[in-house]
Amino acid sequence: MLSPETPTDSPWPADLSSYCFEVPHAPDTVLFASGKGVRLADTAGRPYLDGLSGVFVTCFGYDCAPIVAAVTEQLRTLPFHPPLHGTNPAALALSAALAALAPPALTTVRLVNGGSEAVEAAIRLARLHHRSEGEPGRLKILSHYHGYHGATFGSLSLTGRPDVGRFGPGVPGVVHVWPPDCLEATLGVPHGESGERAAELIERTIEAEGPETVAALVVEPVIHLRGMAVPPPGYLARLREICDRHGVLLVFDEIVTGFGRTGAPFAAQTFGVVPDLMCAGKGVSGGYAPLAAVLMTERIAACLGGDGGPYSFAPTHTYAANPVSAAAGLAAVTLFTEQDFPARISALAAHLEPGLRRALDGRGTLRAIGLLYGLTLTGGPDAGERLARACLRRGLIIRGQDDWAVLAPAYITTRAEADEIAGILAAALDETAAPGTPGGPSRHHTSPGLR
Ligand SMILES: Cc1ncc(COP(=O)(O)O)c(C=O)c1O
Repeated sequence: MLSPETPTDSPWPADLSSYCFEVPHAPDTVLFASGKGVRLADTAGRPYLDGLSGVFVTCFGYDCAPIVAAVTEQLRTLPFHPPLHGTNPAALALSAALAALAPPALTTVRLVNGGSEAVEAAIRLARLHHRSEGEPGRLKILSHYHGYHGATFGSLSLTGRPDVGRFGPGVPGVVHVWPPDCLEATLGVPHGESGERAAELIERTIEAEGPETVAALVVEPVIHLRGMAVPPPGYLARLREICDRHGVLLVFDEIVTGFGRTGAPFAAQTFGVVPDLMCAGKGVSGGYAPLAAVLMTERIAACLGGDGGPYSFAPTHTYAANPVSAAAGLAAVTLFTEQDFPARISALAAHLEPGLRRALDGRGTLRAIGLLYGLTLTGGPDAGERLARACLRRGLIIRGQDDWAVLAPAYITTRAEADEIAGILAAALDETAAPGTPGGPSRHHTSPGLR
């Protein structure tokens, strides 16, 4: 139904009943039509500056010639092949290139179509690994409250948010644990102590559940849905130590943090901690095809050979490792490496971070790592969403929810575009920083009981 708030110049077709919407129709739902560099346009020709890289995806912009060329060539040569009977050169080359970017211990790559599938694959692999090592009872998966891991049922079950409960019970065997940021927010534990306290609680949880029943601990190195909660120093290293002590696998969900977002190719390198399994996605194809990957150590990969051979990992996905996605990924990884994007990311981050701090001007706190930014705002419990709407009206795309907002500009953003992002953000903050000020009505504020 057309909302009563729909502006009369809405580009949406008048008869909406025959359309199926992937996003709820609202007055500010945009009908995107084209993109170039870091800018988009809607069907009415309105321009948007993308401060979020789509959603942590379009790192190389919307008209990246080498990726477009690689995908086009692959479509002409081989768009698909029998996936049960073989793979393709692009998938092999991409897997090798990803393994070369990752910490050396992660030697084997499994390509899938999206982040949720990668997380599902990591869960299956963790259980399969323990089974092949004679510990079939290790089935439980620990994950953070407030982490986000995807929309399929396994990954959704790991997502420790209260709003997930509306889909009914999750998959059995998931145990949630508190991340440091929640201890800080709810108990006032200082940032300098929260990592140690949270790690201690996780170890107590593993002991209480029985280590012989725990397969893996799955964490985002930086928790997106807490407004980019960067871990306190030493936290991830403590998780590594605890997992090793109890025979539990450590899985990093790097769907957001991976492929350069934090400066290094992966957050594992930024924080100097190597997981047993690592999920990468989003930016890994630059947004030119659905693509994600799970990377694993040789020890984990060994379970693919036993107990029924490679098919012991089934069910896989029809489109997993398909040549078109692989070609997009290979072109993106090649660009990333050959054009030294880690250095470009660091240079842009060094320029943008002070600009964002100036824009914020004490109206909240900024967390920054690489080109990943989280604002925790003082303007009330829906300040993040109001800010995002005020930015959108000014033609800037960011994400906002509850009292936080996040930005993740494309790696190709120029300094002038970075300044434009900071300028629009400042103006939108001027409008919305006080509680109850406009920014538009709040639609998604979840005000969860679980803090
Ligand atoms: C940390 C994290 N993990 C997993 C996913 C799921 O990825 P996808 O939406 O590609 O299935 C997301 C998506 O936003 C994510 O942010």
